[in-house]
Amino acid sequence: MKILLTGGAGFIGSHTLIELSNAGHEAVVVDNLYNSSPIALKRVEKIIGKAVPFYRADVRDRKALEAVFAEHKFDACIHFAGLKAVGESVEKPLEYYENNMNGTFVLLDVMRKNGCKNIIFSSSATVYGDPAIIPITEECPKGRCTNPYGQTKSMLEEVMMDVQRADKEWNVVLLRYFNPIGAHPSGTIGENPNGIPNNLMPYITQTAIGKRKELGVFGNDYDTHDGTGVRDYIHVVDLAKAHVAALQAIERKQGIAIYNIGTGHGYSVLDVVNAFIKANGVNVPYSIKPRRAGDIATCYCDPSKARRELGWEALYGIEDMCRDSWNWQRNNPNGFEE
Ligand code: NAD
Ligand code: WQD
Repeated sequence: MKILLTGGAGFIGSHTLIELSNAGHEAVVVDNLYNSSPIALKRVEKIIGKAVPFYRADVRDRKALEAVFAEHKFDACIHFAGLKAVGESVEKPLEYYENNMNGTFVLLDVMRKNGCKNIIFSSSATVYGDPAIIPITEECPKGRCTNPYGQTKSMLEEVMMDVQRADKEWNVVLLRYFNPIGAHPSGTIGENPNGIPNNLMPYITQTAIGKRKELGVFGNDYDTHDGTGVRDYIHVVDLAKAHVAALQAIERKQGIAIYNIGTGHGYSVLDVVNAFIKANGVNVPYSIKPRRAGDIATCYCDPSKARRELGWEALYGIEDMCRDSWNWQRNNPNGFEE
């Protein structure tokens, strides 16, 4: 299939390019490079041994998007493009709503005008809020999102489902990612956060390499096995493969399909720190800090629907994730700067 990847230069998009190529698909990237580097695409090209057509454009720019569609006949779009920093979204709600919502509105409209009505959307476990059931199944009701970023994901899910209900030619696959970490085993692409990392794994790797003094563990008084927050970490290569598998739902014309994309295992912050130390033999100094506003105690999924319907399941374990995150950080202490 020929696939448009919006946000394809980013962390998850760059890894997905490799898995699409491995599965024999053709991909074209549209990205405004707001949170990514063209070097990531160069490195992907080296891994897959072929060029990746790339347009530096904003998905809110209708003219630019129309020009891309005039050049290519797409079978489907994987829509990664969006702003994703939870804390920043609280500070800059308008920027987040504007980018994520408008970007998707323009994209959906240009897709429909060009007869491409198949979309896979990067949604998030955040739509479950403080989950009503653990492990979280897709039937679990959506919860109140505590931040504008999460609201955009939840609202965009509804928008896309309404679009499909109004026009049955659409196929909409909502992938609710849990906590993606790890990196391609080559160590040449990975997550490259700007400034001080918000997420756990980049903070751990930057502490291990000496860029940060110590990891702050946000709370040890949760109702979990060791008091620290429990999450469903998933290797980004497994996550990338889930997009390839999700194309089946489009080929089968499933209409609306929703899948949790996680491993089904919950690891606490201290479990991850210990797995990192064990996998890599490096120390990660840490101290206990107060809880972070908006955090929940436990979040992990039941991924069996994706296994049943798509034949997809995560293969990497927590130590693989820690090894590959460290391999990326160690080989690229300054991210994509060359
Ligand atoms: P990322 O920031 O690395 O990638 C997003 C890409 O989109 C970036 O390359 C950025 O430059 C681009 N972009 C942003 N706004 C754009 C616009 N208006 N026009 C064109 N390009 C634009 O993030 P990621 O971790 O790869 O996440 C990809 C998607 O998955 C996002 O939608 C994110 O919200 C979602 N998601 C991520 C996580 C996670 O923890 N990383 C979890 C759940 C869902
Ligand atoms: C994981 C655990 C923290 C940093 C976020 C978004 C979610 C999704 C994935 C996009 C928690 C603890 C963290 C640190 C810590 N993204 N922690 N010290 O909050 O589960 O999910 O990213 O959709 O929407 O909310 O991920 O990596 O920030 O935190 O102790 O320096 O690590 O409290 O228990 P989170 P995270």
